[in-house]
Amino acid sequence: PRMSCGKVDLGCRACGLSGSRTRVVRGAGDCRSPIVFIGEAPGADEDERGEPFVGRAGKVLTDGIERAGAHRGDVYITNLVKCRPPGNRRPKKEEIEACADNLASELLEIRPTVVVALGLSVAKGLFGMDGKMADIAGRWRDAEAHGLRFKLMVTYHPAGVIYDRGALPRFREDVRAALSEAGLV
Ligand code: URA
Repeated sequence: PRMSCGKVDLGCRACGLSGSRTRVVRGAGDCRSPIVFIGEAPGADEDERGEPFVGRAGKVLTDGIERAGAHRGDVYITNLVKCRPPGNRRPKKEEIEACADNLASELLEIRPTVVVALGLSVAKGLFGMDGKMADIAGRWRDAEAHGLRFKLMVTYHPAGVIYDRGALPRFREDVRAALSEAGLV
């Protein structure tokens, strides 16, 4: 499988995050995967290595995928913004907007049938959704972005699951259901 898709400029200066990041973190995985997981933004480990979800949150996500019977290399994993916000703060609206073409280029190349939005910030930033995660998680929606139609699942962000262990069963079940909907398990 191809390991990185779309057009993401590794020297990007489109927003203020370029001043504090170490590396631009492109998505990674199979460019022909039927499923894309979208996180919020790189953290410290990702910023250092230039790969998405390789720290503690990444372990939660990878474990969820493997428990369901799939592998990281079967899916595509990326983020709403490609550079680490200082101190891991939430990305700002203008940063999400400045980075939108990067995610769009990945999605347009992959053309996934299933998208998993990890956390409220992604659900809000990409799909304009609002509300509480407890009400939103684990449901299928028909969604559209960048002219593509796909099944959308919103679930807890794996970094949040580290602190809220009660959300772990829901998170795992949602990952499993999404992989199943994508035909990977
Ligand atoms: N959290 C995210 O949202 N993305 C990563 O790549 C790592 C942690």
